[in-house]
Amino acid sequence: MLYTDFGKTLESRLRSRADLYPHATEYHRVRFEQTIHHLLHAILKQAAALIQQPDVSWKNTEEIVSDILHCGEMDVAQLFSLEIPNELTADRDFEAVKTKLYETKYYPIGEHLNYISFPPALERKAFIHKHFSRFKEKSHFCDLGFGPGVLTAFILEQDASWQIEGVDISKDCLHHAQRLLQKKKVLARSTLSVGDVRSLPYPDDTFDVVTAVEVLEHIPNPEAGLAEAMRVLKPGGHVITALPVQLPMLMHLYDFDTPDEVLALYEKVGLQVVDFETKEFKLQAGSFTDTFALSVNP
Ligand SMILES: C[S@@+](CC[C@H](N)C(=O)[O-])C[C@H]1O[C@@H](n2cnc3c(N)ncnc32)[C@H](O)[C@@H]1O
Repeated sequence: MLYTDFGKTLESRLRSRADLYPHATEYHRVRFEQTIHHLLHAILKQAAALIQQPDVSWKNTEEIVSDILHCGEMDVAQLFSLEIPNELTADRDFEAVKTKLYETKYYPIGEHLNYISFPPALERKAFIHKHFSRFKEKSHFCDLGFGPGVLTAFILEQDASWQIEGVDISKDCLHHAQRLLQKKKVLARSTLSVGDVRSLPYPDDTFDVVTAVEVLEHIPNPEAGLAEAMRVLKPGGHVITALPVQLPMLMHLYDFDTPDEVLALYEKVGLQVVDFETKEFKLQAGSFTDTFALSVNP
């Protein structure tokens, strides 16, 4: 599609949905304007995918953008004028990543935006969804590195008897996630706090299910983090993990080279893998593989 045609198509889609999805249309208009100046290629790819998707994705965009505006206590214009952290250096130092990235207002918002159309984020959600039926009434969950709280809310929305606790290293994520849970009316069944996955504030054998989704690669020693997750998991309890392979980003303090290395990690800490999926995603900068696993503490 030619750039000018794309503009016209987007504009007419926006106009036809302005009443239905005001936040979504405003979001995409601002995003399109930004496109012109900065990120033409990347955003065209994403927006073109949205144009081809059925109406439900517009509804989804509308809901997510309005959730983000609520959590960030801002309007669309403020969302787009947010400062994007760009001070990360290649030193891969945990404290530097924490203060320059995780503890910024932008970080949970950026992670939350991924749930509009970033395929790896949608796959995480789909993998968790696939296994909900295994969990019982009154299941006690623990969400490690909950980030914006999208998956935390998603879990709580499945069953009114489920409870969740969780830690994230970022106080900005905690604030964002708690506002999201409050908006979704599930806050009362949650206890989230600032904490480190390497040293959890819970007794042994506490949880039926522990989720550590795209978090263990953010610490230098994922094995220690997973062993700590095992400590707080009841015997017979489940762990849901997602770990990328060959995605050496600056905030990733450990790089997995192959899916087999990920599988070996589960085995090493004594987990029995029940379901293991690998998916390849093509990004502009190259492709990478994400792995999704459900394991049990035998
Ligand atoms: C890529 S995000 C994943 C968020 C969420 N699990 C999801 O999939 O939407 C990684 C999260 O891990 C958190 N994190 C990084 N290191 C951590 C640590 N040592 N302890 C707890 N949380 C950590 C970050 O603050 C961030 O919110």
